[in-house]
Amino acid sequence: MRQSGEQMEESRQGEAMVLENPNGTKKMFLESYGCAMNFSDSEIVASVLAGKGYTSTNNYKEADVVLINTCAIRDAAELRVRNRLKEFNAVKKYNPKLIVGVMGCMAERLKSKFLEEEKIVDIVVGPDAYRDLPHLIESVEGGQKAVNVLLSLQETYADISPVRLDSNGVTAFISITRGCDNMCSFCVVPFTRGRERSREPESIINEARQLFEQGYREVTLLGQNVDSYLWADGKAKKELTDEEAKRGFSFADLLDAVAKISPELRIRFSTSNPQDMTDDVLHAIARHENICNYIHLPVQSGSSTMLNRMNRGYTREKYFERIAAIRQIIPDCGLSTDIITGFCAETDEEHAETISLMEAVKFDFAYMFAYSERPGTAAAKKYTDDVPEEIKKARLQQVIALQQKHSAERTKQGVGKIHKVLVEGVSKKSSEMFYGRNSQNTTVVFPKGNHKKGEYVNVLAEECTLATLIGKVI
Ligand code: 5AD
Ligand code: SF4
Repeated sequence: MRQSGEQMEESRQGEAMVLENPNGTKKMFLESYGCAMNFSDSEIVASVLAGKGYTSTNNYKEADVVLINTCAIRDAAELRVRNRLKEFNAVKKYNPKLIVGVMGCMAERLKSKFLEEEKIVDIVVGPDAYRDLPHLIESVEGGQKAVNVLLSLQETYADISPVRLDSNGVTAFISITRGCDNMCSFCVVPFTRGRERSREPESIINEARQLFEQGYREVTLLGQNVDSYLWADGKAKKELTDEEAKRGFSFADLLDAVAKISPELRIRFSTSNPQDMTDDVLHAIARHENICNYIHLPVQSGSSTMLNRMNRGYTREKYFERIAAIRQIIPDCGLSTDIITGFCAETDEEHAETISLMEAVKFDFAYMFAYSERPGTAAAKKYTDDVPEEIKKARLQQVIALQQKHSAERTKQGVGKIHKVLVEGVSKKSSEMFYGRNSQNTTVVFPKGNHKKGEYVNVLAEECTLATLIGKVI
């Protein structure tokens, strides 16, 4: 599973999550769409409801409560949710007591309008209101529809121990910040997930340590913009003086602290941001062997005029400067990105600059999207979505084709080399093979031998497909 992306949208889609709790009485069915943050939030929701005696089922037809954790980043993501609701509706016809709740970004975006637009929905709950779910469910049981979409300046769910859903027992997500203050003009996230806030470091370090003690060997620290993580006695970043901010506990400090838990615990993180990623963070990665040499650094566009229209806060030159710093400080760093084609008023020349930036950087991997206007965003208010759909799509195809070529070249460079791989599980293609990833996040497949999940092995890569190295343990 590749997980990344500023929101890591749609990298996993619609997976049901199962939790066994033999003492529970009522059954919940939890399904998550969109980014890793949503999957991580569903683990918090599972914990909240498990505390009220709910057990989990992977069959929505036998559930008392169906909760769908939604994504609003592009129109297509919302359509997928609406189609799924139609399937739940079929069940409600013969089980009218079924409670259907929508959570996450689409819930926050549409608020109570959701109840009007989709009659099947009983609960609308936004990303900062999950503690209220038991109460919302009670209201519905009492015959009311229930909505809580209040956003918070403080909520980080720091004290809630997530119930690990659908887990391989080896890798887990830990959220370190919530919300986003960047206000990229195309993006709905600042509206659906609210203001940025950092979680108290002790609770993050303790969660990572507990996971390690339970046998987990990799944690991914999650935030919309991890580089802006800052803890200064719980004060909002905007309230801090420069002096206080300097004394605060930064993302580089957090990486250091989590890395020290054990050399056997791997650390990944997502998402980095070109305007906030400091050399301190890069040095922290270089200093610790167990912090993976892999950075997801969304560029969105290779053109400075587009970046300005996107309100990204950096230029093409600044992006190149950050890439040069990465290459210098972490010479063998894997790099991935996000790219949007056909954003408002994008010219052929501006698109060509994205292509030339890709040629220059040669990303290992990219998430690529055609621009989808989101209601309420700055772009929707200020600009016209004027690039014709065929041109958006044609540019997207060009970007995808180029990226495939670069990814294949990058994978090939790994052949003949030895990779330290954390064993994550049995390969989907063959029950005789294990899969895992190297530090740079490339998937590596090899014969199982006597190895076990959660072990580190050194694999000599002998051949490859477009994105996977295949080899043997040495
Ligand atoms: N249209 C298309 N792609 C978008 N993204 C965010 N908002 C939009 C939008 N309105 C992409 C960006 C971001 C990733 C998570 O999703 O590339 O980095
Ligand atoms: Fe990412 Fe920008 Fe959206 Fe924040 S506003 S989530 S930084 S794309």
